[in-house]
Amino acid sequence: MSVDVPAPEAARTPADTSALLRVEGLTRHFMVSGTRIDVLHDCTFEVARGEVVAIVGQSGSGKSTLLNILGLLDKPSSGTYTFDGVETTRLGEGRRSRLRGEGIGFVFQQFHLLERRSALANVGVPMVLGGVPVLRRRSRARELLESVGLGHRLNSHPHQLSGGEQQRVALARALSREPALILADEPTGALDAASSGMIMDELLGQAERRGAAVVVVTHDPKVAKRADRVVELVEGRTR
Ligand SMILES: Nc1ncnc2c1ncn2[C@@H]1O[C@H](COP(=O)(O)OP(=O)(O)O)[C@@H](O)[C@H]1O
Ligand SMILES: [Mg+2]
Repeated sequence: MSVDVPAPEAARTPADTSALLRVEGLTRHFMVSGTRIDVLHDCTFEVARGEVVAIVGQSGSGKSTLLNILGLLDKPSSGTYTFDGVETTRLGEGRRSRLRGEGIGFVFQQFHLLERRSALANVGVPMVLGGVPVLRRRSRARELLESVGLGHRLNSHPHQLSGGEQQRVALARALSREPALILADEPTGALDAASSGMIMDELLGQAERRGAAVVVVTHDPKVAKRADRVVELVEGRTR
C-alpha cells in the first residue's frame, strides 16, 4: 500500500521568516567508562525559514553532536529543541522519526550512498520510506537528478561517479521530500572548489526558492562566507 506525499505547506515560502527551529539551554554529555564527558554546555539559537546558518568550530567542539540533535537522530541531555512548533525532547521514537522523515534532509561529508544501487535508486530511498508510489518516485528522482546536473547519470553507480557527482546525488536524495530543514555536516569537506561551489549554490537555492532552512557545518571560510549567519561553537557553547 502506498500513500501520496502531501504537497508542501503554503507556510513554507521565502516570505515566511518565522523560526523553524529553536534550541534553548541545550546540553549533551556522554558517559565513557564511568566518566562523564561534557560536549555541549549551553547552546541557544534559532534558525528561521529561508535562512542559511553555518556552524563553525574546532575539531571535537561538538558540531556533529549538535547537528545530530537538530536532525532528531540524538537527544540532548537537557534543554529544549523546538522544531516546526513542536518541542521534541519528550516525544517518542515514532513521532520523532516521522518528523525527521517529513521535515529534515541530511547530507554528510562521506555521501553515504548505497554502493550497489544506481543514482536514481539512491535518490528514491527517502521516498520509499515515505510511501511514494514507484512511478512517481522514479519520475521525481529523475527530475531531482536533472536539477543537480546529473540527468545523464541516472543509472550510474556511486563508484562510477566523481566525489562531486556523488555529493550531488546525496543532495538530490536529501531534497526528495522537500524538507523544511536541510542539515549538512561538512558537505564540501571532501570536494574540490568547483564541486564545493555547486553544492553551496544548490543549498542556497533551496533557501531562496522554497524557504528551506539550511544548517551547514563547515571548516571552509568560503562556505561560511556564503551563509546568512555564522554560529561558532567554542568549548561547547554557541556564540
Ligand atoms: N557517542 C559518543 N560517545 C562518547 N563521546 C562522543 C560521542 N559522540 C561524540 N563524542 C565526543 O564529543 C566530542 C565532540 O564530537 P563531535 O560532535 O563529533 O565534534 P566535531 O563534529 O565538532 O568535530 C568529541 O570529543 C567526541 O569524542
Ligand atoms: Mg564533525
